[in-house]
Amino acid sequence: MKKVLVATEKPFAPVAVNGIREVLDKAGYELVLLEKYTSADEWKQAAADVDAMIIRSDKATAEIFEAAKKLKIIVRAGAGYDNIDLEAATGKGVVAMNTPGQNSNAVAELAFGMMLYHVRKGFNGSSGSELRGKKLGIHAYGNVGRYIAEIAKGFRMDLYAFDPFVDNAVIEKDGVKPLETEKELYKNCDFVSLNIPSNENTKNSIGYELLSLMPKNGTLVNTARKEVIDEEGLLRVMAERDDFSYLSDLAPNCHEEIKNDYPGRVVFTAKKMGAQTAEANINAGIAAATQIVQFLEHGDTTFKVN
Ligand code: 3PG
Repeated sequence: MKKVLVATEKPFAPVAVNGIREVLDKAGYELVLLEKYTSADEWKQAAADVDAMIIRSDKATAEIFEAAKKLKIIVRAGAGYDNIDLEAATGKGVVAMNTPGQNSNAVAELAFGMMLYHVRKGFNGSSGSELRGKKLGIHAYGNVGRYIAEIAKGFRMDLYAFDPFVDNAVIEKDGVKPLETEKELYKNCDFVSLNIPSNENTKNSIGYELLSLMPKNGTLVNTARKEVIDEEGLLRVMAERDDFSYLSDLAPNCHEEIKNDYPGRVVFTAKKMGAQTAEANINAGIAAATQIVQFLEHGDTTFKVN
């Protein structure tokens, strides 16, 4: 019987685990559940004899691949796979996949939750402002970017996007104005929603040069990754401009400093929670389980990333 390990330090909603179990039961596979593990050793032990793994932001390092002797496939139930050591996976002949788009609506909704919380001053009873008529820049027009645009239209925001990998025609069709450079996006938009992946080209790429271009009351909304922010540059803008705000689902390393020094101008979630909805967990979890079955039974490598 094939074994599939779900290794999640931040567990899926129980209803999603049930959905994963159903898919695996139907295929005649066994589900091994490792939730809220506290050490890599625990994960390594559980991984020793499994054929497949489903993870979230869990760090699949070379050590894990070394321990998982029978592993054939690992699926990141989510979009970003910067937490998987792809070289190590490939070296061990393991296929790595993600489940793009499955949790994107949840992430987009959180971006608006943070924006509303911020412009309404944390619902503290004082007078805030509105999103309607404000310019929203969508930095990267992938799955999350598209949901952001869809929701923003309901708020009657003016929409702009920068994404060199997406045809302007695709962006225009959604009623969004494509811009040619990152600088234009930051210069023109009251809010910028950051939806870029974290990779060698994007790490530390959002810093002083771009953020200082934002107009008065400029607000950066980060539901992507903390690694894409150049924290020194961010701190410099926060210090120089008392109108600039930073809202993030990924608290920066400097979060204590920034929270204490700039109250009212930052919003951080308690834990990365963009994809923390039952719906997103069901979509991504079931997609991951289905992709595993399709790969192990039929060799289907759709969504392979290595
Ligand atoms: C993703 O890349 O899909 C999101 O960042 C969600 O991450 P999570 O599964 O750890 O919540």
